[in-house]
Amino acid sequence: MLDIKPMAGSLGAEIRGMDLSQDLGNEDILRLRNVLNEYEVVFFRNQDISPARQKALALTFGPLQTHPAYATIDGFPEITILESTPDKPTRIEAWHSDMTFRQHPPLGTVLRSVIVPPKGGDTLWASMTAAYEGLSLHMQKFLEGLSAVHDFAYGFKESLAEPGGRERLADAVTANPPVRHPVIRTHPETGKKVIFVNSLFTTHIEGMRPAESRAILEFLYEHIKTPEYTVRFSWEPHSIAIWDNRSTQHKPVNDYFPHHRRMQRITIDGDKPY
Ligand code: SIN
Repeated sequence: MLDIKPMAGSLGAEIRGMDLSQDLGNEDILRLRNVLNEYEVVFFRNQDISPARQKALALTFGPLQTHPAYATIDGFPEITILESTPDKPTRIEAWHSDMTFRQHPPLGTVLRSVIVPPKGGDTLWASMTAAYEGLSLHMQKFLEGLSAVHDFAYGFKESLAEPGGRERLADAVTANPPVRHPVIRTHPETGKKVIFVNSLFTTHIEGMRPAESRAILEFLYEHIKTPEYTVRFSWEPHSIAIWDNRSTQHKPVNDYFPHHRRMQRITIDGDKPY
């Protein structure tokens, strides 16, 4: 029996009573998808599962993607390692949805905590549905029909500027030219409208002067992080978050230096074209 505990006003629920070390039956999979559509990000605790089980869990939502730049687990090219150490602190800082530099960005993400710092290192999520609904009708109408450009090279500009960065990421840059997405998307499963620009990968809104595009994007980036649209999760070892990458953005809170944090992330393909 699933126990669903909502965690904030706009999004987020903890799910209890589901053992992710076992294969999920069709009924559980359907239930999980419905809960994810309703809450946009769901959390599990005490799920000490293997990489193979994390992969099996992600596969219940769709085929998996690989990432062009991150290190992966041996034998699991779909499981990327997001690690922050005293020598190499994390660079993931900005609010974003994952990999919107792809023509088909992920449907969702399964993130599992492996090493957590003694304090801090939480993650924030914001509901892009709630953020859209919080705009005036005039602003909704203005944004409707606009497109924005998303670019891998823009999101990874700091890594590219490191010594040897251009060479290391040359193939990834070539394989991921800039792409265009609508500024406002309709979620293919819920039919709800969502804001779909993010400060990590979106370079500009098409058809506007640079200063106009910057001003609108800056307004949206401030707007989406309104506390009322967000939820915050404190990781313990073996916690799992699954989020809908179309209707949420997230940001890790990097307040744990010099401690070690290691996460394993899988992104799921299978978003429908818009
Ligand atoms: C991510 O940005 O995909 C990972 C977030 C985190 O490590 O908390």
